[in-house]
Amino acid sequence: MPVEEQYYTKARVAHKYDVYIGKNIPFYWPALGFIAEHLGQRFAGRTDLEVLDIGCGTANHCVTVSKKINIGQLTLVDHSAAILEVARRKVGEAETIPDGVQVRTGSFLEPETLAGIPPESVDVILSSLTLDHIFEDDEFVALLRRLHRILKPGGCFVLCEKSSSPDPTTPSWKSFAEMIHIRGENNRRNDFKNEAEIAEWKKHNFEEDVMRPLSLSWTLAEQAGFTIEKAGGAVLPPADELDYDRFYAIDFITPLSRARVFDTIESYGAGILICAKR
Ligand SMILES: C[S@@+](CC[C@H](N)C(=O)[O-])C[C@H]1O[C@@H](n2cnc3c(N)ncnc32)[C@H](O)[C@@H]1O
Repeated sequence: MPVEEQYYTKARVAHKYDVYIGKNIPFYWPALGFIAEHLGQRFAGRTDLEVLDIGCGTANHCVTVSKKINIGQLTLVDHSAAILEVARRKVGEAETIPDGVQVRTGSFLEPETLAGIPPESVDVILSSLTLDHIFEDDEFVALLRRLHRILKPGGCFVLCEKSSSPDPTTPSWKSFAEMIHIRGENNRRNDFKNEAEIAEWKKHNFEEDVMRPLSLSWTLAEQAGFTIEKAGGAVLPPADELDYDRFYAIDFITPLSRARVFDTIESYGAGILICAKR
């Protein structure tokens, strides 16, 4: 799909994003907090870290993380010029982000967008709610391999995505679909979006995004050379137990073991993998 037709590249979506995202997704800020907490412990005492935020949106992920680690250089990547306008303003105002932020406007799937970043030069690569736009597993692994190359040994890559089975007949996918309907209702009740916008947003979720079980993302990250050092998720209950109030009470992240991720195909409103380059 041409980039100008994609959901988040539209200026009206970009400018409203921060107004509703935390109220629409109860575990949005807790997920970023879970990641920041882990990175804070992992990079304790380290200064001047090189950080790259891909699909940065309005820069909430890197700004949250910057409160826990010492960033020396930040690079933002997004293919939406409209959303980068918001991100630039926000990082400019954040006291924990140094001056001289680099901004790359383009798709992180195109190697030229990341061209010129030397191998083994980045300490932390952040991604949240953006890799579910990659349909093909081969393309997913190819991107992760490129990211692995530019990370320093000892560096971290963070993946945080909605996650479920992609098969609409499974309980896991039904939980994901129920979450989208509940979030649509939240948009309606709070007047965050009108009916046409809700329909467009649902279409984006059901047609532009691809669901991967967290175990598959974990396996693909390992294929790209990473070791998973921490996992967590906003665990969604079965669809028939997931109502509006129950969903909006999921304002925390549950740490996940490898066995739990691989023995079940649960649905996670956000599934988090913190991947290390050894
Ligand atoms: C749901 S938003 C998430 C933003 C941010 N990471 C957050 O957690 O709030 C998805 C973002 O990814 C960007 N995006 C999606 N596919 C992309 C691609 N191939 N290259 C660059 N940016 C992309 C969109 O423009 C949008 O800003």
